Amino acid sequence: MQKLIVVGGNRLKGTIRTSGSKNATLPILAACILNAGVSTIYEAPRLRDVSVMNHLLKYLGAKVTNEGNTIIVDSSNIQPLEISEELMRRMRASNLVLGAMLGRFGRVKISYPGGCQIGSRPMNLHLKGLQAMGAIIREKFGYIMAEAKKLNGADIHLDLPSVGATENLMMAAVLAKGMTTIRNAAKEPEIVDLQNYLNAIGGRVKGAGTDNIKIEGVAEDKMKPAKHCVIPDRIEAGTHIVAAVITGGEVTVKNVIPEHIEPLLAKMRESGAGITVRDDHIMVQGNGRVKPVDIKTMPYPGFPTDMQPQMMALLSLAEGTSVITETVFENRFKHVGELRRMGADIKVEGQSAIIKGVEKLSGAHIEASDLRAGASLVLASLAAENGTVIENIHHIDRGYERIEHKYNSLGARIIRVHK
Ligand code: UD1
Repeated sequence: MQKLIVVGGNRLKGTIRTSGSKNATLPILAACILNAGVSTIYEAPRLRDVSVMNHLLKYLGAKVTNEGNTIIVDSSNIQPLEISEELMRRMRASNLVLGAMLGRFGRVKISYPGGCQIGSRPMNLHLKGLQAMGAIIREKFGYIMAEAKKLNGADIHLDLPSVGATENLMMAAVLAKGMTTIRNAAKEPEIVDLQNYLNAIGGRVKGAGTDNIKIEGVAEDKMKPAKHCVIPDRIEAGTHIVAAVITGGEVTVKNVIPEHIEPLLAKMRESGAGITVRDDHIMVQGNGRVKPVDIKTMPYPGFPTDMQPQMMALLSLAEGTSVITETVFENRFKHVGELRRMGADIKVEGQSAIIKGVEKLSGAHIEASDLRAGASLVLASLAAENGTVIENIHHIDRGYERIEHKYNSLGARIIRVHK
Protein backbone atom coordinates (compact mmCIF):
# COMPACT_ATOMS: atom_id res chain seq x y z
CA MET A 1 0.00 0.00 0.00
CA GLN A 2 1.28 3.43 -0.87
CA LYS A 3 0.41 6.75 0.68
CA LEU A 4 1.03 10.41 0.05
CA ILE A 5 2.52 12.76 2.59
CA VAL A 6 1.63 16.34 1.77
CA VAL A 7 3.30 19.29 3.44
CA GLY A 8 0.80 22.07 2.82
CA GLY A 9 1.10 25.81 2.65
CA ASN A 10 3.08 26.36 -0.56
CA ARG A 11 1.61 28.55 -3.30
CA LEU A 12 1.64 26.70 -6.61
CA LYS A 13 3.38 28.60 -9.38
CA GLY A 14 4.26 27.73 -12.96
CA THR A 15 2.89 25.76 -15.88
CA ILE A 16 1.24 22.35 -15.84
CA ARG A 17 0.16 20.22 -18.78
CA THR A 18 -3.09 18.26 -18.66
CA SER A 19 -2.96 14.64 -19.88
CA GLY A 20 -5.38 13.05 -22.33
CA SER A 21 -8.85 12.26 -21.03
CA LYS A 22 -9.27 9.01 -19.11
CA ASN A 23 -13.01 8.92 -19.71
CA ALA A 24 -12.52 9.41 -23.45
CA THR A 25 -9.69 6.87 -23.68
CA LEU A 26 -11.61 4.04 -21.99
CA PRO A 27 -14.60 3.86 -24.39
CA ILE A 28 -12.32 4.46 -27.38
CA LEU A 29 -10.14 1.50 -26.35
CA ALA A 30 -13.31 -0.60 -26.02
CA ALA A 31 -14.40 0.59 -29.47
CA CYS A 32 -11.10 -0.68 -30.90
CA ILE A 33 -12.77 -4.11 -30.79
CA LEU A 34 -15.06 -3.07 -33.67
CA ASN A 35 -12.63 -2.66 -36.58
CA ALA A 36 -10.92 -6.06 -36.24
CA GLY A 37 -7.72 -4.26 -37.13
CA VAL A 38 -5.19 -1.73 -35.95
CA SER A 39 -6.00 1.49 -34.08
CA THR A 40 -3.38 3.96 -32.94
CA ILE A 41 -4.51 6.07 -30.02
CA TYR A 42 -2.43 9.14 -29.18
CA GLU A 43 -2.41 11.10 -25.91
CA ALA A 44 -3.69 8.16 -23.85
CA PRO A 45 -2.98 8.90 -20.18
CA ARG A 46 -0.75 6.44 -18.29
CA LEU A 47 -3.24 5.52 -15.61
CA ARG A 48 -4.25 2.41 -13.78
CA ASP A 49 -7.75 2.34 -15.38
CA VAL A 50 -6.20 2.54 -18.85
CA SER A 51 -3.85 -0.38 -18.03
CA VAL A 52 -6.84 -2.40 -16.82
CA MET A 53 -8.63 -1.77 -20.13
CA ASN A 54 -5.46 -2.75 -22.03
CA HIS A 55 -5.24 -5.89 -19.94
CA LEU A 56 -8.88 -6.71 -20.72
CA LEU A 57 -8.31 -6.25 -24.46
CA LYS A 58 -5.23 -8.50 -24.27
CA TYR A 59 -7.22 -11.11 -22.36
CA LEU A 60 -9.79 -11.08 -25.19
CA GLY A 61 -6.98 -11.70 -27.71
CA ALA A 62 -5.93 -8.23 -28.88
CA LYS A 63 -2.33 -7.25 -29.37
CA VAL A 64 -1.75 -4.09 -27.37
CA THR A 65 1.46 -2.07 -27.54
CA ASN A 66 2.24 0.96 -25.40
CA GLU A 67 4.75 3.55 -26.48
CA GLY A 68 4.68 6.44 -24.02
CA ASN A 69 1.26 8.00 -24.39
CA THR A 70 0.47 6.09 -27.59
CA ILE A 71 -1.44 2.83 -27.49
CA ILE A 72 -1.61 0.59 -30.55
CA VAL A 73 -4.38 -1.98 -30.48
CA ASP A 74 -4.66 -4.77 -33.04
CA SER A 75 -8.06 -6.32 -32.44
CA SER A 76 -8.04 -8.79 -35.38
CA ASN A 77 -7.71 -11.88 -33.17
CA ILE A 78 -10.16 -10.98 -30.41
CA GLN A 79 -12.48 -13.78 -29.29
CA PRO A 80 -15.81 -13.44 -27.47
CA LEU A 81 -14.50 -14.74 -24.15
CA GLU A 82 -16.33 -14.44 -20.86
CA ILE A 83 -15.33 -11.42 -18.76
CA SER A 84 -14.95 -12.52 -15.19
CA GLU A 85 -15.87 -10.87 -11.94
CA GLU A 86 -12.18 -10.41 -11.20
CA LEU A 87 -11.75 -8.20 -14.31
CA MET A 88 -14.99 -6.31 -13.71
CA ARG A 89 -14.07 -5.66 -10.10
CA ARG A 90 -10.80 -4.03 -11.11
CA MET A 91 -12.63 -1.41 -13.10
CA ARG A 92 -16.30 -0.74 -13.48
CA ALA A 93 -15.74 0.83 -16.90
CA SER A 94 -14.91 -2.69 -18.20
CA ASN A 95 -18.65 -2.80 -18.92
CA LEU A 96 -17.89 -0.55 -21.90
CA VAL A 97 -16.87 -3.58 -23.97
CA LEU A 98 -20.45 -4.87 -23.89
CA GLY A 99 -21.77 -2.96 -26.91
CA ALA A 100 -18.70 -3.47 -29.10
CA MET A 101 -18.44 -7.22 -28.34
CA LEU A 102 -22.13 -7.77 -29.03
CA GLY A 103 -21.94 -5.71 -32.22
CA ARG A 104 -18.96 -7.63 -33.57
CA PHE A 105 -19.61 -11.20 -32.33
CA GLY A 106 -23.34 -11.37 -31.66
CA ARG A 107 -22.73 -12.56 -28.12
CA VAL A 108 -21.04 -11.44 -24.95
CA LYS A 109 -20.94 -12.54 -21.33
CA ILE A 110 -19.71 -10.21 -18.61
CA SER A 111 -19.87 -10.31 -14.86
CA TYR A 112 -22.37 -7.81 -13.46
CA PRO A 113 -20.51 -4.75 -12.20
CA GLY A 114 -21.41 -4.37 -8.54
CA GLY A 115 -22.14 -1.09 -6.83
CA CYS A 116 -19.29 1.21 -6.01
CA GLN A 117 -18.41 3.81 -3.42
CA ILE A 118 -20.38 6.58 -5.09
CA GLY A 119 -23.65 4.77 -5.70
CA SER A 120 -25.36 1.62 -6.97
CA ARG A 121 -24.60 2.34 -10.66
CA PRO A 122 -27.05 0.00 -12.41
CA MET A 123 -26.88 -0.97 -16.10
CA ASN A 124 -30.59 -1.11 -16.86
CA LEU A 125 -30.38 1.63 -19.51
CA HIS A 126 -27.52 -0.10 -21.35
CA LEU A 127 -29.49 -3.35 -21.37
CA LYS A 128 -32.85 -1.83 -22.31
CA GLY A 129 -31.22 -0.12 -25.29
CA LEU A 130 -29.56 -3.34 -26.46
CA GLN A 131 -32.88 -5.17 -26.08
CA ALA A 132 -34.53 -2.54 -28.27
CA MET A 133 -31.91 -3.44 -30.89
CA GLY A 134 -32.99 -7.09 -30.71
CA ALA A 135 -30.54 -8.52 -28.15
CA ILE A 136 -31.73 -11.28 -25.87
CA ILE A 137 -30.42 -10.52 -22.41
CA ARG A 138 -30.21 -13.05 -19.61
CA GLU A 139 -28.95 -12.24 -16.13
CA LYS A 140 -27.86 -15.23 -14.10
CA PHE A 141 -25.44 -15.96 -11.24
CA GLY A 142 -24.12 -12.41 -11.37
CA TYR A 143 -23.44 -12.53 -15.13
CA ILE A 144 -25.07 -10.66 -18.00
CA MET A 145 -25.36 -12.67 -21.21
CA ALA A 146 -26.38 -10.82 -24.34
CA GLU A 147 -27.01 -12.45 -27.72
CA ALA A 148 -28.22 -11.29 -31.11
CA LYS A 149 -27.23 -12.85 -34.44
CA LYS A 150 -27.41 -9.38 -35.92
CA LEU A 151 -28.41 -6.26 -34.03
CA ASN A 152 -31.04 -4.09 -35.68
CA GLY A 153 -31.07 -0.33 -35.65
CA ALA A 154 -33.65 1.04 -33.24
CA ASP A 155 -35.14 4.24 -31.88
CA ILE A 156 -33.98 4.40 -28.25
CA HIS A 157 -35.04 6.98 -25.69
CA LEU A 158 -32.84 6.96 -22.60
CA ASP A 159 -34.71 7.63 -19.33
CA LEU A 160 -31.71 9.70 -18.28
CA PRO A 161 -28.62 10.78 -20.21
CA SER A 162 -26.24 8.08 -18.97
CA VAL A 163 -22.71 8.48 -20.32
CA GLY A 164 -21.89 4.76 -20.26
CA ALA A 165 -25.24 3.70 -21.78
CA THR A 166 -24.88 6.27 -24.59
CA GLU A 167 -21.35 5.00 -25.34
CA ASN A 168 -22.26 1.31 -25.21
CA LEU A 169 -25.25 1.85 -27.51
CA MET A 170 -23.24 3.94 -29.99
CA MET A 171 -20.68 1.12 -30.22
CA ALA A 172 -23.36 -1.58 -30.54
CA ALA A 173 -25.06 0.37 -33.33
CA VAL A 174 -21.99 0.82 -35.56
CA LEU A 175 -22.29 -2.67 -37.11
CA ALA A 176 -26.08 -3.06 -36.66
CA LYS A 177 -28.48 -3.32 -39.55
CA GLY A 178 -30.10 0.03 -40.29
CA MET A 179 -30.36 3.29 -38.37
CA THR A 180 -30.19 3.72 -34.61
CA THR A 181 -31.29 6.92 -32.93
CA ILE A 182 -30.33 7.53 -29.31
CA ARG A 183 -32.57 10.21 -27.82
CA ASN A 184 -31.87 12.02 -24.54
CA ALA A 185 -28.26 10.96 -25.12
CA ALA A 186 -25.45 12.13 -22.87
CA LYS A 187 -23.73 15.20 -24.36
CA GLU A 188 -20.34 14.99 -22.64
CA PRO A 189 -17.25 15.90 -24.72
CA GLU A 190 -16.07 12.30 -24.32
CA ILE A 191 -19.11 11.18 -26.35
CA VAL A 192 -18.06 13.50 -29.17
CA ASP A 193 -14.54 12.07 -29.02
CA LEU A 194 -15.95 8.55 -29.27
CA GLN A 195 -18.00 9.59 -32.31
CA ASN A 196 -14.85 10.97 -33.96
CA TYR A 197 -12.99 7.72 -33.37
CA LEU A 198 -15.93 5.58 -34.58
CA ASN A 199 -16.15 7.63 -37.78
CA ALA A 200 -12.38 7.29 -38.27
CA ILE A 201 -12.70 3.47 -38.30
CA GLY A 202 -15.51 3.63 -40.86
CA GLY A 203 -18.61 4.11 -38.68
CA ARG A 204 -21.36 6.57 -39.64
CA VAL A 205 -22.25 8.47 -36.50
CA LYS A 206 -23.58 12.01 -36.18
CA GLY A 207 -25.14 14.23 -33.55
CA ALA A 208 -22.82 13.50 -30.62
CA GLY A 209 -22.80 16.51 -28.32
CA THR A 210 -26.57 17.00 -28.84
CA ASP A 211 -29.54 15.11 -27.35
CA ASN A 212 -29.97 12.95 -30.46
CA ILE A 213 -27.27 10.73 -31.87
CA LYS A 214 -27.84 8.91 -35.14
CA ILE A 215 -25.82 5.87 -36.12
CA GLU A 216 -26.23 4.32 -39.54
CA GLY A 217 -25.08 0.71 -39.36
CA VAL A 218 -22.29 -0.31 -41.77
CA ALA A 219 -21.04 -3.70 -42.94
CA GLU A 220 -18.02 -5.18 -41.15
CA ASP A 221 -15.92 -4.99 -44.31
CA LYS A 222 -16.28 -1.20 -44.26
CA MET A 223 -14.27 -1.01 -41.03
CA LYS A 224 -10.68 0.19 -41.35
CA PRO A 225 -7.57 0.99 -39.29
CA ALA A 226 -7.39 4.47 -37.80
CA LYS A 227 -5.31 6.92 -35.84
CA HIS A 228 -6.95 9.07 -33.21
CA CYS A 229 -5.78 11.67 -30.70
CA VAL A 230 -7.72 11.76 -27.42
CA ILE A 231 -9.09 15.08 -26.09
CA PRO A 232 -7.51 16.65 -22.97
CA ASP A 233 -8.92 15.56 -19.62
CA ARG A 234 -11.37 18.26 -18.53
CA ILE A 235 -11.62 16.91 -14.98
CA GLU A 236 -7.86 16.81 -14.53
CA ALA A 237 -7.63 20.38 -15.90
CA GLY A 238 -10.37 21.44 -13.49
CA THR A 239 -8.51 19.86 -10.59
CA HIS A 240 -5.36 21.85 -11.48
CA ILE A 241 -7.38 25.06 -11.63
CA VAL A 242 -8.71 24.43 -8.13
CA ALA A 243 -5.18 23.55 -6.95
CA ALA A 244 -3.98 26.96 -8.13
CA VAL A 245 -6.83 28.82 -6.45
CA ILE A 246 -6.83 26.91 -3.15
CA THR A 247 -3.12 27.64 -2.66
CA GLY A 248 -3.42 31.29 -3.74
CA GLY A 249 -1.07 30.45 -6.58
CA GLU A 250 -0.52 31.49 -10.15
CA VAL A 251 -0.65 28.63 -12.61
CA THR A 252 -1.03 28.22 -16.37
CA VAL A 253 -2.89 25.03 -17.23
CA LYS A 254 -1.90 23.85 -20.71
CA ASN A 255 -3.62 21.39 -23.06
CA VAL A 256 -7.20 22.32 -22.25
CA ILE A 257 -10.29 22.82 -24.39
CA PRO A 258 -11.75 25.79 -22.50
CA GLU A 259 -15.38 25.20 -23.65
CA HIS A 260 -15.27 21.77 -22.01
CA ILE A 261 -14.71 23.31 -18.60
CA GLU A 262 -16.94 26.36 -18.95
CA PRO A 263 -19.30 25.21 -16.14
CA LEU A 264 -16.32 25.13 -13.77
CA LEU A 265 -14.81 28.38 -15.05
CA ALA A 266 -18.14 30.16 -14.45
CA LYS A 267 -18.08 29.03 -10.81
CA MET A 268 -14.42 29.93 -10.38
CA ARG A 269 -15.06 33.45 -11.66
CA GLU A 270 -18.07 33.75 -9.34
CA SER A 271 -15.81 32.74 -6.45
CA GLY A 272 -13.43 35.58 -7.26
CA ALA A 273 -10.56 33.65 -8.84
CA GLY A 274 -8.68 35.28 -11.70
CA ILE A 275 -9.28 33.26 -14.87
CA THR A 276 -7.84 34.18 -18.25
CA VAL A 277 -8.79 31.91 -21.12
CA ARG A 278 -6.60 31.45 -24.18
CA ASP A 279 -6.92 29.02 -27.11
CA ASP A 280 -5.64 25.88 -25.43
CA HIS A 281 -4.53 27.09 -22.03
CA ILE A 282 -5.93 28.87 -19.02
CA MET A 283 -4.12 31.23 -16.68
CA VAL A 284 -5.34 30.99 -13.10
CA GLN A 285 -4.67 33.45 -10.33
CA GLY A 286 -5.68 32.72 -6.74
CA ASN A 287 -6.86 35.92 -5.02
CA GLY A 288 -6.97 34.97 -1.34
CA ARG A 289 -10.07 33.41 0.25
CA VAL A 290 -12.78 32.61 -2.27
CA LYS A 291 -16.36 33.84 -2.08
CA PRO A 292 -18.96 31.15 -1.36
CA VAL A 293 -20.83 29.74 -4.37
CA ASP A 294 -23.69 27.29 -4.69
CA ILE A 295 -23.32 24.32 -7.00
CA LYS A 296 -25.68 21.69 -8.34
CA THR A 297 -24.14 18.82 -10.25
CA MET A 298 -25.84 17.98 -13.56
CA PRO A 299 -25.10 16.05 -16.74
CA TYR A 300 -23.02 18.05 -19.26
CA PRO A 301 -23.16 20.99 -19.90
CA GLY A 302 -24.09 21.31 -16.23
CA PHE A 303 -21.54 21.31 -13.43
CA PRO A 304 -19.73 17.93 -13.51
CA THR A 305 -20.22 15.54 -10.60
CA ASP A 306 -16.56 14.56 -11.11
CA MET A 307 -15.51 18.07 -9.96
CA GLN A 308 -17.86 18.21 -6.97
CA PRO A 309 -15.45 16.84 -4.31
CA GLN A 310 -12.62 19.14 -5.46
CA MET A 311 -14.93 22.18 -5.30
CA MET A 312 -15.97 21.15 -1.81
CA ALA A 313 -12.34 21.27 -0.68
CA LEU A 314 -12.05 24.80 -2.06
CA LEU A 315 -15.35 26.01 -0.61
CA SER A 316 -14.48 24.66 2.81
CA LEU A 317 -12.06 27.61 2.94
CA ALA A 318 -14.51 30.18 1.50
CA GLU A 319 -15.53 33.42 3.20
CA GLY A 320 -19.09 32.32 3.93
CA THR A 321 -21.51 29.43 3.42
CA SER A 322 -21.94 27.46 0.17
CA VAL A 323 -24.37 24.69 -0.71
CA ILE A 324 -23.42 21.83 -3.01
CA THR A 325 -26.24 19.62 -4.26
CA GLU A 326 -25.31 16.29 -5.84
CA THR A 327 -27.96 15.11 -8.28
CA VAL A 328 -26.04 12.57 -10.40
CA PHE A 329 -24.86 9.99 -7.85
CA GLU A 330 -26.66 9.13 -4.64
CA ASN A 331 -23.66 8.58 -2.40
CA ARG A 332 -20.97 10.97 -3.40
CA PHE A 333 -20.13 12.71 -0.14
CA LYS A 334 -17.56 10.24 1.18
CA HIS A 335 -14.93 13.00 1.28
CA VAL A 336 -17.00 15.05 3.75
CA GLY A 337 -15.88 13.02 6.77
CA GLU A 338 -12.23 13.32 5.77
CA LEU A 339 -12.44 17.07 5.09
CA ARG A 340 -14.06 17.47 8.51
CA ARG A 341 -11.09 15.71 10.08
CA MET A 342 -9.01 18.50 8.58
CA GLY A 343 -11.19 21.11 10.27
CA ALA A 344 -13.81 21.78 7.58
CA ASP A 345 -17.33 22.66 8.76
CA ILE A 346 -19.64 20.65 6.48
CA LYS A 347 -23.08 19.27 7.19
CA VAL A 348 -24.85 16.86 4.87
CA GLU A 349 -28.64 17.06 4.51
CA GLY A 350 -29.95 14.55 2.02
CA GLN A 351 -28.46 15.34 -1.38
CA SER A 352 -26.95 18.63 -0.23
CA ALA A 353 -23.83 19.57 1.67
CA ILE A 354 -23.79 22.86 3.55
CA ILE A 355 -20.25 24.15 3.75
CA LYS A 356 -19.44 26.92 6.20
CA GLY A 357 -16.07 28.25 5.16
CA VAL A 358 -13.35 28.14 7.80
CA GLU A 359 -10.16 30.22 7.89
CA LYS A 360 -7.80 27.30 7.79
CA LEU A 361 -7.58 23.52 7.44
CA SER A 362 -5.08 21.44 9.38
CA GLY A 363 -3.21 18.35 8.31
CA ALA A 364 -4.64 15.00 9.41
CA HIS A 365 -4.37 11.28 8.72
CA ILE A 366 -7.03 10.66 6.08
CA GLU A 367 -8.15 8.14 3.49
CA ALA A 368 -9.24 8.41 -0.16
CA SER A 369 -12.53 6.54 -0.64
CA ASP A 370 -12.72 6.97 -4.43
CA LEU A 371 -10.93 8.76 -7.24
CA ARG A 372 -12.33 12.30 -7.07
CA ALA A 373 -12.73 12.19 -3.28
CA GLY A 374 -9.00 11.44 -3.25
CA ALA A 375 -8.31 14.44 -5.48
CA SER A 376 -10.26 16.69 -3.12
CA LEU A 377 -8.11 15.50 -0.20
CA VAL A 378 -4.90 16.27 -2.11
CA LEU A 379 -6.22 19.79 -2.79
CA ALA A 380 -7.28 20.35 0.82
CA SER A 381 -3.90 19.14 2.07
CA LEU A 382 -2.03 21.47 -0.32
CA ALA A 383 -3.73 24.36 1.46
CA ALA A 384 -3.63 22.94 4.99
CA GLU A 385 -1.31 23.86 7.82
CA ASN A 386 1.05 21.03 8.81
CA GLY A 387 1.47 17.72 7.10
CA THR A 388 -1.29 15.41 5.85
CA VAL A 389 -1.06 11.67 5.27
CA ILE A 390 -3.42 10.32 2.60
CA GLU A 391 -4.01 6.57 2.53
CA ASN A 392 -5.60 4.43 -0.20
CA ILE A 393 -4.05 6.47 -2.97
CA HIS A 394 -4.56 3.72 -5.54
CA HIS A 395 -7.90 5.46 -6.07
CA ILE A 396 -6.08 8.69 -7.00
CA ASP A 397 -3.73 6.84 -9.38
CA ARG A 398 -6.80 5.63 -11.32
CA GLY A 399 -7.31 9.14 -12.65
CA TYR A 400 -4.17 11.27 -12.21
CA GLU A 401 -0.85 10.53 -13.87
CA ARG A 402 1.79 10.91 -11.10
CA ILE A 403 -0.05 13.64 -9.25
CA GLU A 404 2.89 14.30 -6.91
CA HIS A 405 5.26 14.96 -9.85
CA LYS A 406 2.84 17.40 -11.42
CA TYR A 407 2.22 19.43 -8.26
CA ASN A 408 5.81 19.24 -7.00
CA SER A 409 6.91 20.80 -10.28
CA LEU A 410 4.73 23.78 -9.27
CA GLY A 411 6.31 24.04 -5.83
CA ALA A 412 4.18 21.64 -3.78
CA ARG A 413 5.77 19.21 -1.33
CA ILE A 414 4.23 15.78 -1.83
CA ILE A 415 6.06 12.57 -1.07
CA ARG A 416 4.89 9.13 -2.14
CA VAL A 417 5.70 6.53 0.46
CA HIS A 418 5.88 2.85 -0.52
CA LYS A 419 5.29 0.74 2.53
C1 UD1 B 1 -19.33 8.27 -16.36
C2 UD1 B 1 -17.89 8.60 -15.96
C3 UD1 B 1 -17.86 9.06 -14.50
C4 UD1 B 1 -18.84 10.21 -14.28
C5 UD1 B 1 -20.23 9.84 -14.79
C6 UD1 B 1 -21.21 11.01 -14.74
C7 UD1 B 1 -16.58 7.12 -17.32
C8 UD1 B 1 -15.68 5.93 -17.40
N1 UD1 B 1 -17.08 7.42 -16.13
O1 UD1 B 1 -19.74 7.18 -15.54
O2 UD1 B 1 -16.53 9.50 -14.20
O3 UD1 B 1 -18.94 10.49 -12.90
O4 UD1 B 1 -20.15 9.41 -16.17
O5 UD1 B 1 -20.72 12.10 -15.43
O6 UD1 B 1 -16.79 7.80 -18.31
N2 UD1 B 1 -27.72 5.08 -14.38
C9 UD1 B 1 -28.86 4.30 -14.32
N3 UD1 B 1 -28.95 3.24 -15.17
C10 UD1 B 1 -27.99 2.93 -16.09
C11 UD1 B 1 -26.84 3.75 -16.15
C12 UD1 B 1 -26.75 4.83 -15.29
O7 UD1 B 1 -29.75 4.54 -13.50
O8 UD1 B 1 -28.14 1.96 -16.83
C13 UD1 B 1 -27.58 6.24 -13.46
C14 UD1 B 1 -26.40 6.08 -12.51
O9 UD1 B 1 -26.74 5.33 -11.37
C15 UD1 B 1 -26.07 7.53 -12.16
C16 UD1 B 1 -26.44 8.28 -13.46
O10 UD1 B 1 -27.24 7.38 -14.21
O11 UD1 B 1 -26.89 7.98 -11.12
C17 UD1 B 1 -25.25 8.71 -14.30
O12 UD1 B 1 -24.47 7.59 -14.60
P1 UD1 B 1 -23.65 7.44 -15.97
O13 UD1 B 1 -23.78 8.71 -16.75
O14 UD1 B 1 -24.05 6.18 -16.62
O15 UD1 B 1 -22.18 7.32 -15.43
P2 UD1 B 1 -21.04 6.34 -15.95
O16 UD1 B 1 -21.11 6.21 -17.42
O17 UD1 B 1 -21.03 5.12 -15.11
